[in-house]
Amino acid sequence: MKPIILAGGSGSRLWPKSRAALPKQFLRLTSEHTMLQDTILRLPREKVETALVICNEAHRFLAAEQLRQISVKSEGVLLEPIGRNTAPAIAVAAMLAAKKDPEQVLLILAADHLIDDQSALTSAIEKAEELALKNKLVTFGIVPTEPHTGYGYIKSGDSINNGFEVSKFVEKPEFHTAKEYLKSGEYYWNSGMFMFKAGVYLDELKKFRHDIYSACEQACNQTSSDLDFIRLDKEAFAACPDESIDYAVMEKTAHACMVPLDAGWNDVGSWSSLWETSQKDSDGNVCVGDTILHDVKNSYVNAEDRMVSIIGLNDVVVVETKDAVMVADRNKVQHIKNVVNTLKAEK
Ligand code: GDD
Ligand code: MG
Repeated sequence: MKPIILAGGSGSRLWPKSRAALPKQFLRLTSEHTMLQDTILRLPREKVETALVICNEAHRFLAAEQLRQISVKSEGVLLEPIGRNTAPAIAVAAMLAAKKDPEQVLLILAADHLIDDQSALTSAIEKAEELALKNKLVTFGIVPTEPHTGYGYIKSGDSINNGFEVSKFVEKPEFHTAKEYLKSGEYYWNSGMFMFKAGVYLDELKKFRHDIYSACEQACNQTSSDLDFIRLDKEAFAACPDESIDYAVMEKTAHACMVPLDAGWNDVGSWSSLWETSQKDSDGNVCVGDTILHDVKNSYVNAEDRMVSIIGLNDVVVVETKDAVMVADRNKVQHIKNVVNTLKAEK
């Protein structure tokens, strides 16, 4: 089994800490390690050497330095000249693996998730591997707790080995649909981790999105290497459509399976979800850095560069960095994307 670590997302919902130059997966948010480092350190040691990190060219030194810090000599870092989302990222990684062995089982991991229970993860991975060896595309299902519209929803079907057939996969449904799914009790959230043989994924991609498949094939035909970096052909990859694996393959394939995962999974999608999962003080506050709070409850405060003091506010998020401060209602942090869009437009 070969781990493929997806580290090319933008993580814009954690602005102002997460930036274009330093996205969430490269940040230390909840531990002494960055999210990328924790993703790798969670793997069984013998698998680490075969891991392949795939990220944007702009972040190559960040990725290489973070691997070095944890003394990981992985198989290298595959660089995308431009972000084209997860279907192409996984495709190029699968193509490189398939050149050596199309039967090779890949474990696709997001570089920006929190997982508390390592042994539960290891046991789910073992179950998934049995199914992947039977030519299935395996997802890891999380019992949903709210009608979140940022996730994929998996309807479980008949049981198979230690998992279930997927009878339906719906990526990011509308709120009312997500509510129905939650009520029905028949759906799981898609965790965003996958396991399949390189050749099986590529066959399905070729079947459903030939355009993505052939652009990636071209980009892989002309790879070059320098140091530990593997580079794709820029023009070919730039011509690839932008699409996630969830829409491109998982919603369409008839060979998907699901292994339930109960391991304290969290995708740290926002400051409020970080507050929810963090250890709180007796007032329900989470404070990072130099902070003084008086009459403040259920808030998240992160002071990076200067001291932050708050008086008489509840349910707020305050994130201070050297050049930007964000103050928000904890229940409205999803609107950060408006700020990020404004910033992008001003550039
Ligand atoms: N290399 C690379 N290139 N990685 C990427 C790219 C890319 O172009 N785009 C995203 N990633 C990485 C992100 O860094 C993250 O680790 C992972 O791929 C998933 O991408 P997100 O952009 O965070 O996806 P999402 O959160 O909207 O949705 C996915 O994850 C959910 C769970 O967190 C889907 O798989 C959903 O179905 C799932 O519920
Ligand atoms: Mg995500």
